[in-house]
Amino acid sequence: METKRVVESRLGLTKVRVEVCPLCEGTGWKTVAGSADRCVTRCDCQLRTRNAALLAAARIPKRYEHCELGSYTTDFPGAHPSLAHAHLVASRFVEEYDPRDGTGLLIIGQIGTGKTHLAAGIAKELILKKGIACLFYDYRELLKEIQNSYNSTVQATELDVLRPVFETEVLVLDELGAVKPTEWVWDTVSLILNTRYNDNRTTIITTNFEDQPAAAINGSLSAARAATRAETLGDRIGERMRSRLHEMCRVVKMEGTDFRQKCRSASFR
Ligand SMILES: Nc1ncnc2c1ncn2[C@@H]1O[C@H](COP(=O)(O)OP(=O)(O)O)[C@@H](O)[C@H]1O
Ligand SMILES: [Mg+2]
Ligand SMILES: [Zn+2]
Repeated sequence: METKRVVESRLGLTKVRVEVCPLCEGTGWKTVAGSADRCVTRCDCQLRTRNAALLAAARIPKRYEHCELGSYTTDFPGAHPSLAHAHLVASRFVEEYDPRDGTGLLIIGQIGTGKTHLAAGIAKELILKKGIACLFYDYRELLKEIQNSYNSTVQATELDVLRPVFETEVLVLDELGAVKPTEWVWDTVSLILNTRYNDNRTTIITTNFEDQPAAAINGSLSAARAATRAETLGDRIGERMRSRLHEMCRVVKMEGTDFRQKCRSASFR
């Protein structure tokens, strides 16, 4: 942390203490080191302020604030190789991020494999290392907020909720499919994904549902088997949106059991 020079000034009887950045003397611009013609560039203090604002605006829930790519471990007994691969894909995604590309990630795996950890970690690094605007939304939370906006006593309109979701450079949509599907849910998820797809915007998605077709279109599946099989992503968001996701995202599979249980049982050994 750089030391800050404290300037004291007197305004009448009130003593005002203003912290001035020693690099730019408060102008927000610093001279580029070694440049002959005294080129200036945005000062670090400005970038820090901007990144702190972006981080706050990303709405990463408190529960996931600790999630960083650096703190994701793949070095524990029984760690499935797909976890190290997913971690590598996540790190490369940040390094090679190109806003013109628009391809996101569809992170699939059972509960507790660290999907949200990686997704939140990617968002944090994009913000802090590259100054990119990100927005984190839990799927259930987002649908609830949209539904609440229909309530006439609530000030926010549907578009107030959706505009940042449509427009943010990178959207993290956590636990896609976690809401019981209805026609409204399907329409809403289609609106969000199609809008972002059409605008070529990057979306990072996590889901606990297997990336398999909906029961209805799988002709070989008998009605009895369909009733007993585990629900798939196709069942939860509709087959059209599942295939759209494949155009928007690169699929990352995370296998293994719940990390928390693994840690707990390991500590008893
Ligand atoms: N490989 C890992 N290294 C470090 N922490 C992990 C790892 N996997 C999961 N966690 C932690 O375990 C908890 C559950 O992970 P989470 O990302 O919520 O799983 P998922 O979203 O797949 O259900 C989180 O607190 C997360 O930080
Ligand atoms: Mg999760
Ligand atoms: Zn400065």
